[in-house]
Amino acid sequence: MTLDLFEKFDRTLESFNQLPKGDFNPFTVSMDAVISPTEAIINGRKTILAGTNNYMGMTYNRECMDAAEEALNSFGTGTTGSRVLNGTYNGHKILEETLKDFYDTEHAIVFSTGYQANLGIIATVAGPKDYVIIDADSHASIYDGCAMGNATVVRFEHNDPENLEKRLARIRRKDPDAGILVVIEGVYSMLGDQAPIKQLAEAAKKHDAFVLVDEAHSIGVFGKTGRGVAQEQGVEHLVDFTIGTFSKSVGTVGGYCVSNHPKFEVLRLVCRPYVFTASLPPSVVASATKALELIKNSNLRVKLLENSMRLNKGLSDAGFNVGTTGESPIAAIVIDEQDIAIAYWQQMMQEGVYVNLAVPPATPNGLNLMRCSLSAAHSLEQIDYMLEKFIAIGKNLGVLN
Ligand SMILES: Cc1ncc(COP(=O)(O)O)c(C=O)c1O
Repeated sequence: MTLDLFEKFDRTLESFNQLPKGDFNPFTVSMDAVISPTEAIINGRKTILAGTNNYMGMTYNRECMDAAEEALNSFGTGTTGSRVLNGTYNGHKILEETLKDFYDTEHAIVFSTGYQANLGIIATVAGPKDYVIIDADSHASIYDGCAMGNATVVRFEHNDPENLEKRLARIRRKDPDAGILVVIEGVYSMLGDQAPIKQLAEAAKKHDAFVLVDEAHSIGVFGKTGRGVAQEQGVEHLVDFTIGTFSKSVGTVGGYCVSNHPKFEVLRLVCRPYVFTASLPPSVVASATKALELIKNSNLRVKLLENSMRLNKGLSDAGFNVGTTGESPIAAIVIDEQDIAIAYWQQMMQEGVYVNLAVPPATPNGLNLMRCSLSAAHSLEQIDYMLEKFIAIGKNLGVLN
């Protein structure tokens, strides 16, 4: 008998089919029109976007849009080539120079997505005789980078320097000469908690390990010039590789890695997710470059953190279990029952607020989350409206007493 290759997905399909169809299915929402960084028309209704990762509201920044339009008109819609064959335009080089300037590093390499940056750097830098030690709550792209590479992968408990140190010591006892890469994130995307980079990186350095920090959710948001949590904590000198994305604060798409490693440029020849894919379109490259220039000198961070504090405080004061203490623009309400979480999400949509329903396997510890990620572009009125609806629906569903 021939087995159906898709049989393994039957349980997933079964759960999916139990969800309502169309725009009241949390995984199939589509936007009829986008009005601004914080509002769209969904299901014919004006809706506040409360989970977009558009931290700086850059998607509608006039200067970024003008830069993109000019590049589109001058260089066309796409490069149709890899960075190493036909796909490097002047704009890509300017973007890499801008990143070097932004981070004050010797090297910068741009990928087509942040996902590919993690895949490429982790799978290439850590080879068959090396070890990658990752935080247990790492993003899928970090796990996939490990799966694609040939290094031995070890996990340590989330944000736990002592546990990391134990893992490092055990590896060093067994294999004194092994190359070791420790991978952490600046801000964890589901609950919004920050990594204690100093303590984690010091443990790594004690055992001669390299440190990679994924600042996907922290570029623009933290640090004096928006470089991320390592800059905020004053520990950039302990970080060997910084990964980031243009798909959040930068308001477009693409990924990057910056580093001072003297041999870093060899990655342009050996890193498969860099070599074997088409480069970013010129319009994207131009808007990312402009956004980085704006972010560096911007005070939008102050407004963003003010917004975040207002939502996080409002939720905790109302009695919600919000997982963390408002240390980032991400606020996530923990809901015990998945059915209640789905109903909650639908009722928020009916009231014109689109939050992220996040469920396992995307979440740590099997949590069901109503996840918001705020923008500097949100008004205080929008935040207060979200709070009002969260509280009213929470009471209705018995999430709040
Ligand atoms: C921590 C982290 N790393 C990497 C990525 C991937 O970024 P991109 O959207 O550019 O592929 C994400 C996106 O959600 C993320 O949260």
